Amino acid sequence: MSARIENLYLPARPTEVRRGKGWSTRFAFVLAAAGSAVGLGNVWKFPYIAGEHGGGAFVLVYLACVMLIGLPILIAEIVLGRRGGSSPIHGLRALASREGRSPNWRYLGWLGVAGTFLILSFYSVVAGWSIAYLWYAVSGQFGAAAADSAASAGALFAGLKASPATMLACHALAMAATVLVVARGIRNGLERAVRWMVPGLFVLLVALVIYAAVATGEFGRAAAFMFRPDFSALSWDAVLVALGHAFFTLSVGMTAMMAYGSHLEKKVSVAKASVAIAGLDTLVALLACLAVFPIVFANGLQTEIGPGLLFVTMPIAFGQMPGGEFAGMLFFLFLGLAALTSTISLLEPTVEHLEQRAGWNRRRAAALSGLAIWIVGIGSVLAFNLWSGFTPFGKNLFDLLDFVTANLMLPIGGLLIAIFAGWGLSRASLAEELGLGESPVFRLWRFVLRYVAVPGVVLVLVYNLL
Ligand code: PHE
Repeated sequence: MSARIENLYLPARPTEVRRGKGWSTRFAFVLAAAGSAVGLGNVWKFPYIAGEHGGGAFVLVYLACVMLIGLPILIAEIVLGRRGGSSPIHGLRALASREGRSPNWRYLGWLGVAGTFLILSFYSVVAGWSIAYLWYAVSGQFGAAAADSAASAGALFAGLKASPATMLACHALAMAATVLVVARGIRNGLERAVRWMVPGLFVLLVALVIYAAVATGEFGRAAAFMFRPDFSALSWDAVLVALGHAFFTLSVGMTAMMAYGSHLEKKVSVAKASVAIAGLDTLVALLACLAVFPIVFANGLQTEIGPGLLFVTMPIAFGQMPGGEFAGMLFFLFLGLAALTSTISLLEPTVEHLEQRAGWNRRRAAALSGLAIWIVGIGSVLAFNLWSGFTPFGKNLFDLLDFVTANLMLPIGGLLIAIFAGWGLSRASLAEELGLGESPVFRLWRFVLRYVAVPGVVLVLVYNLL
C-alpha cells in the first residue's frame, strides 16, 4: 500500500504506520465509508426503483431492510474487515483459521470481490452519464431540453443512450478517474473534495427539493406517493428489490466495507460510525426522491420509466429555473464526485487482492483491473443500443447485471457475512472488536444480526426463488 493511501486509511495492519499527516483519522474513515455509501445508488437508483414499485409501501420495506438488516450487517462487515486485518479474501481466511473455522470462508471474499468487479462495470457506465450531463449543462442544452418539458428532456437522454461512442468515452473517463485515485492513493485534493462534496450534494438536494416543491406545486402528491403505503402494490419481487437495494446503497454484502474496515484504527467505534453512515445515506435517498417526483407529476411523466428517471427529470428542472445551467452543472459535478467516492471503494478490493496475491504494485493492479472492468462494462453500454435485442432471462445486459449483483450476490454475500460474524466468531472476539463490552447495545446488535437479519434475508431469497 502506498504511503499516500495510508493518509486516508487508518493503520490497523501491523505494516501500516500512522503518518499523522492529512485529516483526522477517525473522520477519514467515516468520510471514506460514507463516500462509498452515498452515490448513484441514492440519487439515481433509489428514485427509479421506488417509482417502478409503487412508492410508499416499497419505501417502508426498504427502510425496514436498512435498519433491521443492512445496518447490523454493515457493522458486522466492518468488524470482520478490521479483525481480518488484510485484503478481504486473505483476511477472511486468516480470521477463520484464528477462530477455528473452515478456510472455505475465503470464498465469501471471492464472492464479494467478484460482486464489486461486476457492479463497477455497469456503475461506471452510469457515472459516465453524469459526466455527459455535466457537459450538457456546461454547453447550455438544458434550456432547450426544458422548452417543451418531458418530450425534449426524454429526447436528450434517448440521444445519449443511442450513442455507444459517447457512452463508451464517458465510461472510460469514469474508469480512468477511479484508476487514478486508487493507483495513487487518495491525495490531499480528493480529501478536501470529499470534505465538501457530501455536504455540497446535500445542500443542493435540499435546494432542489424546495425548488421542485415551489415551482411545481406537486410536493404533496410526491410526498403522498413516497410515504403513503399502498400494500396492494407490493409484490415479493419488490421486497427482494428493496432488500437488495438496502445492501447496494450501504455498500454492504461484498467486500468494499471490509477492505475499508481493515485499515481502521481500533479505537474508532464501528457501531457509531455505521449509524452515521446509514443515517446520512438514507436521508440523501429520500431527498433525491422528493426532488424528482414533484417534477414527474407536474410534467405528466410516468413514475415507472426506469433507469432514465433522474436524467429525464433534472434537465426539466434546470432548464426552467433561473440560473439553471449553473445549478445543473453543480448538480452533475457533485453527482459525478459522489459516484467517484463509490467507484474507488468498488475497485479497492480487487486491487488489494492482486497486490497481495499476485504481488503486483498498486498502480499496475489498479490499471489492469480497471481496464478489465471497462471491457466488461462495454456490454452494459451496448445494452442500450446495438445489443438492446439481446435479452437473456428477459433482461438486457445492463438490467441483468444489476439484477444478479444487487438482488442475488449482495443478499447472499450479506447473509454469509451475518452468519460468519454472528455464529463463526466467538462472542468474546466480537465484544472486543466492537469495544462496547457486554452492553445492551452489543447484545441487541448480536441478537438482531442472528435472529432478524439472517432469517429475513433467507425468507426473502427463498420466496423469490420458489
Ligand atoms: N453504495 C454505493 C451507492 O449507493 C454503491 C456501492 C455498492 C459502492 C457496493 C460500493 C459497494 O451508490
